[in-house]
Amino acid sequence: MMLTGLAGAILLVTPFTPELFRQECLSTNYYGNYNDGQTTNSVFMPDATCLDLWTSHALASSASIVEATQDFQQLVWVQHKVVETSLVAATRSFRNEFDSFLQRLSAPKRVGRQQDVLVVPDNKLGYEILYRTPTAALLSVSQGTARTIDTILPRFWKSALIPATPVRFLPVPDEAVKHVKHVLSTLKFEPEVAAIVESISVPQMINDIRFLTGEDEVSGIVSRHSFADGSRTAARWLKARFEDTGATCELQDFLLGFAPNVVCAYPSTVNTTATVLLSSHYDSRGSFGSTRAPGGDDDGSGTMALLAIARTIARKGIKFHSNVQLVAFAGEEQGLLGSKAYSQKLRDIDANITVMIQADMLAYHVAGEPPQLGLPATIGTTEVTQLVANISAIYSKELQVGFTAACCSDHQSFHEQGFPATQVFERAGPIADPMYHNSGDLSDRAGYDFDQVKSIAKVQFATLLHSAGYEL
Ligand SMILES: *[C@@H]1O[C@H](CO)[C@@H](O)[C@H](O)[C@H]1NC(C)=O
Ligand SMILES: *[C@@H]1O[C@H](CO)[C@@H](O)[C@H](O)[C@H]1NC(C)=O
Ligand SMILES: *[C@@H]1O[C@H](CO)[C@@H](O)[C@H](O)[C@H]1NC(C)=O
Ligand SMILES: [Zn+2]
Repeated sequence: MMLTGLAGAILLVTPFTPELFRQECLSTNYYGNYNDGQTTNSVFMPDATCLDLWTSHALASSASIVEATQDFQQLVWVQHKVVETSLVAATRSFRNEFDSFLQRLSAPKRVGRQQDVLVVPDNKLGYEILYRTPTAALLSVSQGTARTIDTILPRFWKSALIPATPVRFLPVPDEAVKHVKHVLSTLKFEPEVAAIVESISVPQMINDIRFLTGEDEVSGIVSRHSFADGSRTAARWLKARFEDTGATCELQDFLLGFAPNVVCAYPSTVNTTATVLLSSHYDSRGSFGSTRAPGGDDDGSGTMALLAIARTIARKGIKFHSNVQLVAFAGEEQGLLGSKAYSQKLRDIDANITVMIQADMLAYHVAGEPPQLGLPATIGTTEVTQLVANISAIYSKELQVGFTAACCSDHQSFHEQGFPATQVFERAGPIADPMYHNSGDLSDRAGYDFDQVKSIAKVQFATLLHSAGYEL
């Protein structure tokens, strides 16, 4: 593929509203939605005629129009995550953090051995800032820099690659939410479901997470960064463990240099296209300059919950009345790359995903706070979020349910492909885990609460059983 530079490209960055997509020349030049902690912004690359049309539009006053002057190849959105102020105060101010990041972008990179196995096609140094707010920026950089940018980002910042070609804006159609609405309207306590979900084993979860973090030295895993050897060890191990439970699994590569997605499926006992999908991401990120990235909470916790559900499916001999997929994604830390590829693949075959739930960070518990379940305040399908909330009230009464602005894990990729999707998170508020994106993100530490992980896994599992239908 010939790489063409961005010099001369005109970009429009504007707060998201479905209204924008009424303008055809915008909707055909759409490059996705990106968060800055307060606002979801839509990015477009319209041509001159379209821009002329746009400037007379009522929404034009809130938009930024920028032109790229330098010939880098890849646009990247970087964003400060929504984090408890007490955690942010311990680091330097946003501006200082961002400035030191920009210096790293121009200086020759020294990344740790564990993160240095990516094939970098062109690693021209430098960057151009196209758009900037206090908590986010749109940059243009080389392809090599773009794919390794997370290794030099300050730890509370996240990056997302902007695609090379326009994407479709696909709202979740009413038809796709029918099944969830039906499950919600007929939802009632089932003693058998309660007994099944209650039997999730905490001791087994402790063993599993210790393998993934490398706290169990047998695993040899130092980092599950998508480019690290440890992520491939984890992928092979997860595939084998899910297969032990009767699932059929595939390691699906999605991008050169990245560890694969682990995609596992249980068949349906009835002939149906309906598919319920539960997921997590098994890749991780550590601190800048350190090769360790144990990802015990982010997102070893969601991954061990997924495995705990699989182990219980096998132990109880559960057969489903829908197709069921359990998927552990990679490339989440570089901008949801594994889930973007997989959800696109499912859209291409018009898969009938009736419910999708991503579990990302389930374990951390601030001392003195009750166990919680955080649901997405912005990106997600309202009805699926409501179903998860109501199921929590029935099967995990111990959880305090609320909303979080700590936006956007792999469910965003599915939501953007028009699939009904939501997320489960450890806190009804901003990120509070002091080991977030840190080399100290182990499972054996204060605040890491296995009981909370089990309570949230019960909610995911009960949602699966109620939505898919099952027999023993
Ligand atoms: C979900 O739970 C809320 C709170 O208990 C309740 O008011 C609502 O009716 C429930 N939704 C459905 C569709 O059952
Ligand atoms: C399953 O249903 C589809 C659509 O109704 C039908 O075409 C197909 O033959 C069925 N397959 C089996 C194995 O019954
Ligand atoms: C998807 O599955 C649901 C639940 O079984 C079913 O009602 C619906 O008709 C299916 N949709 C398609 C497009 O096959
Ligand atoms: Zn995560």
